[in-house]
Amino acid sequence: MISLKNKNIFIAGGSGYLGSVLCEEILKLEGNIFLADQDIKKSELVIKKLQKKYSKSKIIFSHLNMIEPESISKNIKLAYQKFKYIDGLVNATFGSTSDKLSQLTAEKFNKTNQINLTGSFLLMRGVANKMKKGGSIVMFASMYGLVSPKMEMYPKNINPNPIEYGAGKAGLNQMVKYFSSYYGKNNIRINAIVPGPFPNITKAANNNKKFLSNLKNSTMLKRFGKPIETAKPTIFLLSDASSYMTGHSLIVDGGWTAW
Ligand SMILES: NC(=O)c1ccc[n+]([C@@H]2O[C@H](COP(=O)([O-])OP(=O)(O)OC[C@H]3O[C@@H](n4cnc5c(N)ncnc54)[C@H](O)[C@@H]3O)[C@@H](O)[C@H]2O)c1
Repeated sequence: MISLKNKNIFIAGGSGYLGSVLCEEILKLEGNIFLADQDIKKSELVIKKLQKKYSKSKIIFSHLNMIEPESISKNIKLAYQKFKYIDGLVNATFGSTSDKLSQLTAEKFNKTNQINLTGSFLLMRGVANKMKKGGSIVMFASMYGLVSPKMEMYPKNINPNPIEYGAGKAGLNQMVKYFSSYYGKNNIRINAIVPGPFPNITKAANNNKKFLSNLKNSTMLKRFGKPIETAKPTIFLLSDASSYMTGHSLIVDGGWTAW
């Protein structure tokens, strides 16, 4: 039922924990990818592996820094040069600090939200303006744009999910609605995917079994999500299987926000 055959998908943050699995799923469905990411080393590894496995697809890497408006417009230009048309855009980047609320500076708050908000805005608008035959855009938001982290769940050595991140992701959910209203007449669908806990487990967290088990037990399914479980819903939103969905925030959180 789901096909992305010959569809060209621009994935910002495509080398990340969730983004790289999404790239592979798109390639399995015979789509092509323009992978744009800030981390060149990590991207080279991801690209090498994918090119080896999916030699028939077009796989292009480009360095992107979501903080810099010129970098965003350069990437959009390059993607259109390489592909002529972009059918789908995914943004799986994010900015956050690991600072405590009491220590977070205005400068850091703004810098991270240049990625979550300003960069996302420029990327969405830049691509949408060029989608003359329509298309699908998916923004990675977060359950922490809908609800607050529970402060008492965090042990001393782990800072709670930070305020600038949740505020940015909440704004991203709203932007998705605004953009879908603005571009609906152009047959461009714009949705958010709202992941719950998909931790790429850190050493600090790994050492804290109680914290991890509290996190798991905050979901109804009593487990963390696997990257493939965000990839498949994202593919659904990119494909015609969701052709009447726009302005929607699809929550993929094992039930975390539904209690
Ligand atoms: N993993 C989770 O538990 C979780 C939960 C909720 C939401 N999300 C969202 O899902 C998306 C993917 O998260 P992830 O876990 O794969 O994170 P990740 O850190 O593994 O991947 C993010 C990618 O974005 C790239 N990136 C960061 N800053 C950038 C910039 N300024 N310009 C260009 N690229 C940049 C990084 O190099 C990285 O490859 C993010 O939007 C995140 O907020 C993740």
